[in-house]
Amino acid sequence: MSRFAVACVLAFAAAGAGADDAVTFDARELRAIVRLSPLPPPPRDPSNAVADDPRAAKLGERLFFDARLSANGATACATCHDPARAWTDGKRSADGGARFARNTPSIRDTAHNRWFYWDGRADSAWAQALGPLENAREMGGNRLAQIRLVASDARLAADYAAVFGALPDGIADPRRFPPAARPLVDAPDDPLDVAWRAMRDDDRRAANRMFAEIGKAIAAFERGITVGETPFDRYVARLRQGDGAPTREFTVAAQRGLKLFVGRGQCTLCHSGAGLSDGEFHDVGIALGENHRVDPGRHRGVLTLLASGFTRAGEYADAIAADAPIRYLALQSDQLGQFKTPTLRGVAGTAPYMHDGRFDTLEQVVRFYSTRVGASPLGHPTTLLKPLGLNEGEVGDLATFLRALGGER
Ligand code: HEC
Ligand code: HEC
Repeated sequence: MSRFAVACVLAFAAAGAGADDAVTFDARELRAIVRLSPLPPPPRDPSNAVADDPRAAKLGERLFFDARLSANGATACATCHDPARAWTDGKRSADGGARFARNTPSIRDTAHNRWFYWDGRADSAWAQALGPLENAREMGGNRLAQIRLVASDARLAADYAAVFGALPDGIADPRRFPPAARPLVDAPDDPLDVAWRAMRDDDRRAANRMFAEIGKAIAAFERGITVGETPFDRYVARLRQGDGAPTREFTVAAQRGLKLFVGRGQCTLCHSGAGLSDGEFHDVGIALGENHRVDPGRHRGVLTLLASGFTRAGEYADAIAADAPIRYLALQSDQLGQFKTPTLRGVAGTAPYMHDGRFDTLEQVVRFYSTRVGASPLGHPTTLLKPLGLNEGEVGDLATFLRALGGER
């Protein structure tokens, strides 16, 4: 927004300040607000050549809803990322926490992500999609069974070939592509996995490539899933025109909450940009879970990512971006207990909140930031967060603003 436009909005806001409850924004606040909206189209992903191919998206959609990809034939991506529940499962954690209890995030607008998962252990949407396919706590399948399923289902095989070309040579031969004995969880070279080890090297790579392409089709589908224009976006569009008056969907309380969000609340230190996330990781003080279980967060995420064969700078990327963030990634001690700043777009529909789903309501989240009661940082806590000392009215205002970021079911 130009200085002139800011001045116009200011003049309008001042002129309209007659009513008791009118909220006005100063020039600094206006500059901060217009940075948060609108959300541009997602950046290109050169590592996925079919990211914007509608045929790939159609195939990906079918795979996303196909429970046959799981070991028990009963779990699909959509089981946990349910379109009727804002593409989440509405549960505190997806898995009861065999090791860590992690809350299921929505897949909406994830094409804007720099990192995927709460700990960022994948650097692309397509590599992320490969995780749950083999993770024992999610779908628990294995890539050999999954590529054979796609190859043997007439419709999937035809769609696959139309997007990616011929199936791997010899895919139907069980001596070359055997059904694996168990999932190959992030460890395809596990010496115990005899079937996988016995395969010819180039068949193993062809299997990995086809597996990665399943991920790329799913990623193409996910790219189109978005929160869409929110009440906040419509309000900012009007603000840019010099009309700062509250509306039915963006009330005076939401305005007050917005003022806190960009001002005293300091929320935009991390929830910045039109994606309402800096795309990076912070220890806000909730790494310590129930029963003193510690989730190492980003620290383990970096370890996993650096060991992964499926990254934007690896063998299965279609084009290696010179600026892929993974190229600058290193393990550091302050990553312990850090989690990814989630987007707040659509947050009204994705309760419960935080990586372990500990808060049921947005008011509880805001009260946590306000009082910091229950904060137990691990290692190197962020020094950015100070108790805000909000009163209950302000807590409500901030929560009202968050709900205006869309996604209410
Ligand atoms: C059993 C439930 C479950 C299933 C099945 C499941 N997910 Fe997830 N999903 C989760 C949980 C829990 C997380 C967060 C895990 C973490 O951060 O460690 C997650 C994270 C994600 C993310 C990261 C979002 C972000 O903002 O970083 C995406 C994208 C995603 N899943 C897509 C998929 C796809 C695609 C499939 C199918 C191939 C799938 N999920 C299957 C529960 C599930
Ligand atoms: C220091 C960076 C930082 C600041 C400042 C910050 N946040 Fe966060 N926020 C995060 C991180 C990181 C998480 C995820 C924490 C986790 O799950 O361990 C988060 C999670 C959230 C969530 C939960 C979203 C979800 O999908 O689960 C909400 C809501 C939220 N923040 C709102 C706010 C508000 C409102 C403010 C200002 C009062 C604020 N944040 C200030 C980094 C920050």
